[in-house]
Amino acid sequence: MKKALGPSDRLYPMPCVLVLGGTMERADALAVAWIAIGGANPPTIVMAIRPSRRTLELIRETGEFTVNIPRASDAAIADYFGIVSGHDHDKFAESGWTLEPASVVSAPLVAECPYNLECRVLSETENGSHILVVGEIVESHAEESILDASGTKVDVALLDPLIYIPGTREYRRLGEKVADAFSAGKTVKPE
Ligand SMILES: Cc1cc2nc3c(=O)[nH]c(=O)nc-3n(C[C@H](O)[C@H](O)[C@H](O)COP(=O)(O)O)c2cc1C
Repeated sequence: MKKALGPSDRLYPMPCVLVLGGTMERADALAVAWIAIGGANPPTIVMAIRPSRRTLELIRETGEFTVNIPRASDAAIADYFGIVSGHDHDKFAESGWTLEPASVVSAPLVAECPYNLECRVLSETENGSHILVVGEIVESHAEESILDASGTKVDVALLDPLIYIPGTREYRRLGEKVADAFSAGKTVKPE
């Protein structure tokens, strides 16, 4: 038996990332859960940002931003970036988190986040309460300590990304592996 819950903006789970706009001299970042990959060639990312966000103003100044994945163990600092605005706070000075230069875009990386994407804005679309920002991912960075034995791929267990659960408004971390994608389905035979 299913129960209808009405129109909903809740998807389970959602990532919690820090999106940063600005420069090394003047940056702001906010927590974002409404974010996803938008395409592969070129690689793109799409995110829903409310027009009032200070970070969006800075993204518009340069047309560039970075997406920074915090560790689950840093939930409190990531949450701080999601409850305080750069309109009246210097979040980096207050949190103690730091910036490091990106390699392609002028928006810096959040040094304490082990995985980072450098992005250039491709488009902005008004979508009711939010602005849909589509960005091209022009470079990515990973701490060497979160790479697998091949040294080329992120080991998600080592990354330990922060997960946001809407509705109950809680943060979680990933559970265990259950199967190999693009492979496990081969064991299901038609009757
Ligand atoms: C877990 C979490 C997820 C959030 N996701 C979004 C989001 O997807 N889009 C958005 O506009 N704001 C989101 N917010 C709210 C902003 O992060 C928050 O309003 C922030 O203070 C804005 O900062 P700024 O004005 O310095 O840019 C989220 C907040 C939290 C705690």
